[in-house]
Amino acid sequence: MTEELSLAIDAMDEKHDDFLEILSHMKVSPKGDFLNLFKEMITQTKEHFEFEERLMREHHFYGLQEHLHEHDTLLGEMEHFYEKSKKMPLFGKSYIHEYAYERFKRHITNIDSQLAMFLKEKELSGIS
Ligand SMILES: [Fe+2]
Ligand SMILES: [Fe+2]
Repeated sequence: MTEELSLAIDAMDEKHDDFLEILSHMKVSPKGDFLNLFKEMITQTKEHFEFEERLMREHHFYGLQEHLHEHDTLLGEMEHFYEKSKKMPLFGKSYIHEYAYERFKRHITNIDSQLAMFLKEKELSGIS
């Protein structure tokens, strides 16, 4: 985990690490693996988001609605690019190479960080 993305909530940082790992894999993947990895990234992202959503509900996080909305948008974009790249691989490539990291970084620093702070205030840093 790079310093700039660390939230100091281990369980959340782990999910973000998994995302960065698959993203860097995809950047160097042979053509034939690209779509499979893309699909795996979608599955992994769904689990990541469901995990955070469960946490928010369990602890009655004040920003649940905004966060849910952001997750829907992010996942929707990812699925859109996945579908497009079945016919136009370059579409998917540009999403992975030029967009995905910045997009996730923005989510982590603007949205996930609020949840992390909330959990820390409740002394739930070690949550899993
Ligand atoms: Fe997250
Ligand atoms: Fe999130």
